[in-house]
Amino acid sequence: MLQLRIELAEHDYRYHVLDAPVVPDAVYDRLYQELVELESRYPRLVSPDSPTQRVGAAPAAGFREVAHGLPMLSLDNAFSREDLENFDRRVQERLDSAGDLQYSAEPKLDGAAINLWFENGELVRAATRGDGRVGEDVTHNVRTIHSVPLRLRGSGVPRLLEVRGEIFMPREGFRRLNEAAQKAGEKPFANPRNAAAGSLRHLDPRLTASRPLALFAYGVGTVAEGSLPPRHTEVLDRLSDWGLPVAPEAELVTGVAGCLGYYARMLEKRAELAYDTDGVVFKVNDVDLQARLGTVARAPRWAVAYKFPAEEQLTTVESVHFQVGRTGVLTPVARLEPVFVGGATVSNATLHNLDELHRKDVRPGDTVIVRRAGDVIPEVMSVLLERRPPQTSPVRAPERCPVCSSPVLRVEGEAALRCTGGSACPAQRKEALRHFASRRALNIDGLGSQLIDQLVDTDLVHKPGDLFRLTTSQLQQLDRMGERSATKLLEAMSRSKATTLERFLYALGIPEVGEATSKALARHFVRLSALMTASAEEFAEVEDVGPIMAGHITAYFQAPHNQEVIQDLRALGVHWSEEARPDDAGTAERPLKGKTFVLTGTLAGMTREEATARIEALGGKVTSSVTAKTSYLVVGDKPGSKLAKAEKLGVEVLDEGQLGQSILGVSEK
Ligand code: IVH
Repeated sequence: MLQLRIELAEHDYRYHVLDAPVVPDAVYDRLYQELVELESRYPRLVSPDSPTQRVGAAPAAGFREVAHGLPMLSLDNAFSREDLENFDRRVQERLDSAGDLQYSAEPKLDGAAINLWFENGELVRAATRGDGRVGEDVTHNVRTIHSVPLRLRGSGVPRLLEVRGEIFMPREGFRRLNEAAQKAGEKPFANPRNAAAGSLRHLDPRLTASRPLALFAYGVGTVAEGSLPPRHTEVLDRLSDWGLPVAPEAELVTGVAGCLGYYARMLEKRAELAYDTDGVVFKVNDVDLQARLGTVARAPRWAVAYKFPAEEQLTTVESVHFQVGRTGVLTPVARLEPVFVGGATVSNATLHNLDELHRKDVRPGDTVIVRRAGDVIPEVMSVLLERRPPQTSPVRAPERCPVCSSPVLRVEGEAALRCTGGSACPAQRKEALRHFASRRALNIDGLGSQLIDQLVDTDLVHKPGDLFRLTTSQLQQLDRMGERSATKLLEAMSRSKATTLERFLYALGIPEVGEATSKALARHFVRLSALMTASAEEFAEVEDVGPIMAGHITAYFQAPHNQEVIQDLRALGVHWSEEARPDDAGTAERPLKGKTFVLTGTLAGMTREEATARIEALGGKVTSSVTAKTSYLVVGDKPGSKLAKAEKLGVEVLDEGQLGQSILGVSEK
């Protein structure tokens, strides 16, 4: 039984903490079952750290209050570069230090704080933060979270140890949870933080067990009969050695400049992280210096949370209108009282489609939560019904296109409404032209959105080819168009005629065909004539082209109208090379195909973006966190906890020189 417990705990750790299982689930299940059977035969030998004992307790009537060993502090916030500089200055002044300090830089996880007591390495108690001094005993619930070790591994664990961290719900789990809630007709959670906090404080541990919660440890409280290293980043590494999950993005940075760099990198990465963050945390790395700085009120003087711009805000809906897209799809859009959210002022937010509009029942006059995350278009999340004014009515679907008045069709089995006007609808024409001229399509510099509106509204342009027939005198009749800008625009148009097949295909705006598909099609067929005459079966051979997309493509090229558009463009001089490109030759020129890289620390000879571009040009992939699937970890100066993780997982570690020489061939040039 002891052996099974140890083996299962090891698999739990590999699966939930390292993200690197070594046995298939079925093998785990068999071992687990074996232990369950032994335990039912010898109940006296069941130990509390047995993996079968994660969900043990019956629902509780309430939570007991428990005192923390050391208080659980909160953090002071910084909202600007200036706030951060002031924080660093105050720290330096108190320490009488001159020169850059080292900081542990960590994501600020958006979940619920937790205090974990380990006695002789065994998890004996878990408590919420409460008022910072006394929290609620949620041990039974926390035990069900698989990334929380019931027993610490490795050596040197102090007899008594309070571990501080955040319980959170990864986004993917949150999405699935809400999807299931919606299917079951239950109320979804507003965000992963509420879902995590709610699940953690549920009275029935069996319910908590069914929720996809996870832990990242970020600090310690009481440490008795044992010691920890003198720097915070090393403490995190030690916690990680003992089997506690630590955010892989944690890094060591130097001075305000290092902090600002980290903030910028994390802000950029924010949208693609697997979990929600509401900022980053900087902590003076030297634990002795932390002690010298001490705390004031309930926050340490040695740490600060530099918050990201809030991604959600409240505002009111002025109206709901329908926007007509490139393919005629009508999208309901809420016009809003302008609000600053996610780092920008938002005055329109999408409602996606009719079903969403009706499900959320957004009405003019409503107070709503708008969300703008990263580069994602702002959306209306939900309505605050308690704030709905009297006498509102639900928004009805239009029967005619708001732009061209053609009848609107609801496609069977689709949530989409479509304007039937086709290229007779100015809205569709405008969108098609915007797409045609956009940076990743023909890339016509200076042909902006408003100019396209004017060109369509004045009937100067009907189809893409018309753009290339424009004259300076025609352009000069438009608003804010002098001779100089007209000439410049014509030059840009002329330049854009030299393009590639993949850009040209993308620019045509064939339904469902995005950039990646255009690229795949161009590589596969090389010549446009081959593409235009290909059968659905031939399309099926192209990577990622399914039968539906193949249908769209063949239908597009069969339509005489589209053939004319293409003929016209070619006759006007739009051209590209129809020779296979060298990188199509196979793996010879893409030697890094199938390899994934993670970059950490500061590289001396190139920026991370440059390194990423070079790796990708050679067929490799760059990802942000180290897993068992990572081929190489490239370490620059001051790597963070990723290095420890790579070493633990046996991922090959390269320094910058090795990356340059052996892989990118920098030294051979
Ligand atoms: S340290 C000594 N580190 O933020 C300071 N807190 O606003 C104590 N949080 O209650 C906190 N990520 O729940 C620290 N990397 C991180 C954190 C973090 C999230 C939360 C924590 C705390 C709150 C304070």
